[in-house]
Amino acid sequence: MASMIDYTVFVVDDEESIRDAAQLTLTQYKVRTFPTAEEALVAIQESPPDLVLMDIGLPGMSGVEALKRVKQSHPEVLFIMITAYEDVDTVVAAMKYGAYDYVVKPLHMDKLRTNIANALQTIRLRKEVRALQERYLRENLPCFIGESNTIQDVLEFVAMVAKSPDAPVLIVGETGTGKELIASAIHFQSPNFAGPLVTLNCAALPGELLESELFGYEGGAFSGAKAHGKAGLIEQAAGGTLFLDEVGDLSQEAQAKLLRFLDAGEYYKVGGTKKLTTRTRVVSATNRDLTAMIEHGAFRSDLYYRLAVLKIVVPSLNKRRADILPLARHFLLEYAKKYDKNFSGISAEAQDFLVQRSWPGNVRELKSIMERGVLASQGPELGLGDLGKSGEAPGPAGGGGANGRGGLPALSPQGLDLTLLLEDVERDYLEQALALAEGSDVKAAELLSLNYHTLRYRKKKLGIA
Ligand SMILES: Nc1ncnc2c1ncn2[C@@H]1O[C@H](COP(=O)(O)OP(=O)(O)OP(=O)(O)O)[C@@H](O)[C@H]1O
Ligand SMILES: [Mg+2]
Repeated sequence: MASMIDYTVFVVDDEESIRDAAQLTLTQYKVRTFPTAEEALVAIQESPPDLVLMDIGLPGMSGVEALKRVKQSHPEVLFIMITAYEDVDTVVAAMKYGAYDYVVKPLHMDKLRTNIANALQTIRLRKEVRALQERYLRENLPCFIGESNTIQDVLEFVAMVAKSPDAPVLIVGETGTGKELIASAIHFQSPNFAGPLVTLNCAALPGELLESELFGYEGGAFSGAKAHGKAGLIEQAAGGTLFLDEVGDLSQEAQAKLLRFLDAGEYYKVGGTKKLTTRTRVVSATNRDLTAMIEHGAFRSDLYYRLAVLKIVVPSLNKRRADILPLARHFLLEYAKKYDKNFSGISAEAQDFLVQRSWPGNVRELKSIMERGVLASQGPELGLGDLGKSGEAPGPAGGGGANGRGGLPALSPQGLDLTLLLEDVERDYLEQALALAEGSDVKAAELLSLNYHTLRYRKKKLGIA
């Protein structure tokens, strides 16, 4: 059991002979000795050892009290307690506070050496298991594909945000942009990653159920409640991450309660009177315009500021077209594997089509089009026809319809500037047409079913070179 690692062992005993014997016997470890618990505590706070051999009956602070304190700040430190006689009560107390083992005086140094070696072997195994778990989690994360500068900036920010284990994060962006994927990236890159990631879809439940889901309820809190009550998701997410999806759909009441939890770290179960506290990081996401909702009184601004201590804006796919093909290839491979088909790539026309069309449903829409394409295609190359069969894929010249407003904003009660908006749309299509036509006005006009002079006129009016 020769160990490659240098373990540190602290020996705390008021008897000098025991300290000396330990020093002489435990030569394979870095040993430091202390006559009192007080002195040992100072040293442990400075630099915690792997193991403490702690006498129970010390003058001043008792060994059990010292154990209790160290376990609070450094739960990983192992304790072997030394007791003068087999005082069952004290030994039981020590075990309850997390001591690993105990030895009875007079000490047999050989036996003590074995006890210590066993204990250290346990932490070595524990550390190895943990490292394996960590590796497994990190290697099996769903990949987040993105090569555009825009998304690289977002990912850099995500990595930074993840480092703090407590700060609330709000993720905003259109539907299908990858908010949920980012929420899980935050969890797994954060120090909370070994804890649970608990998700609540706030839109899926009516107000009352949602509250009891989030905060839990006491037995008999309402009709249909389980007799012994239930732990809420906040409680289940202790030490991990609580992901509140579609947070814009929280009822006013739930908003007030969530605010109190975020403000003071306190909450009550439904029907409960006991104040509860839980430490978890709250990540929330929405595709709704919370600022507009605040103006209409539908969302509390104080809650908004609490949730959005850190805010991540995920750009729409239309604004990061460099990501389209990498994503498409990624999904192609994913579905080829899933449906056991062979694909070598995407045809040039199909690529052009994917890059140029509008993506109101963002990455989710691209993903489902690729899935249907893979199913429809004979392979080995995914062609334009395979994508066409997906039906609801209106290209720049396509039929619209199924996608409704497309990527355009909904008309909110604050209104919008229709002229500007239409100009934007027009400019976008003109530029796309000119790019496709490689600068030829005649071809561009054809692509847009415009007469050549009209195209020239619109170009000039919109200031397109
Ligand atoms: N960058 C990406 N790389 C790989 N897959 C992605 C990426 N972005 C999104 N996806 C996939 O697209 C789908 C939609 O993403 P997600 O569910 O995270 O969107 P969302 O922003 O939460 O949408 P909604 O607002 O509708 O809930 C998921 O299957 C997700 O795995
Ligand atoms: Mg989502």
